[in-house]
Amino acid sequence: MQSKADTRYRVTLTLNGRERSGYAEPRMQLCDFLRHDLGATGTHVGCEHGVCGACTVLVNGRASRSCLMLAVQADGKQLETVESLAAGDELNDLQKAFRKHHALQCGFCTSGILMSSMEFLAKSTSPTEPEVREMLSGHLCRCTGYTGIVNAILEVAEERNSGISRQTDINKENNNV
Ligand code: FES
Ligand code: FES
Repeated sequence: MQSKADTRYRVTLTLNGRERSGYAEPRMQLCDFLRHDLGATGTHVGCEHGVCGACTVLVNGRASRSCLMLAVQADGKQLETVESLAAGDELNDLQKAFRKHHALQCGFCTSGILMSSMEFLAKSTSPTEPEVREMLSGHLCRCTGYTGIVNAILEVAEERNSGISRQTDINKENNNV
């Protein structure tokens, strides 16, 4: 006889802008559902108990450990994974900065750090180095060290700010014409 724990439930969510569905047992972790059922293998699984941060994804815009969330809890939610960042072969600004600053080696921690950084940069437009390091304290990188990662994030914050002020100047000029 099949127990409730073995019953698979339909889970429908929006993954990187596309509605996706699959079936998950109640105990299935979100990270496993993303990787094995939806093919989003950019999300990595390290410690499986909320310590390393490798599995971080955005759930309704908030950085979340997908190893601490059940797949069934994600039903109806908006999810973004590292696959959402690049447009085809074109890396986004944060990914380019990571490449420029050698902010990764094996890359195992990188997708989680990128997703936490995306949320962080959306909220903190002019972060200080200690603020960046505090955000990174939720992530373990075993091989790169954090200097390149911090530099990459700070550079993107600065570039995004100068882009905004350039756009403001252009708007002011256009309004004066
Ligand atoms: Fe989720 Fe380590 S695998 S925090
Ligand atoms: Fe290897 Fe961070 S780049 S664990």
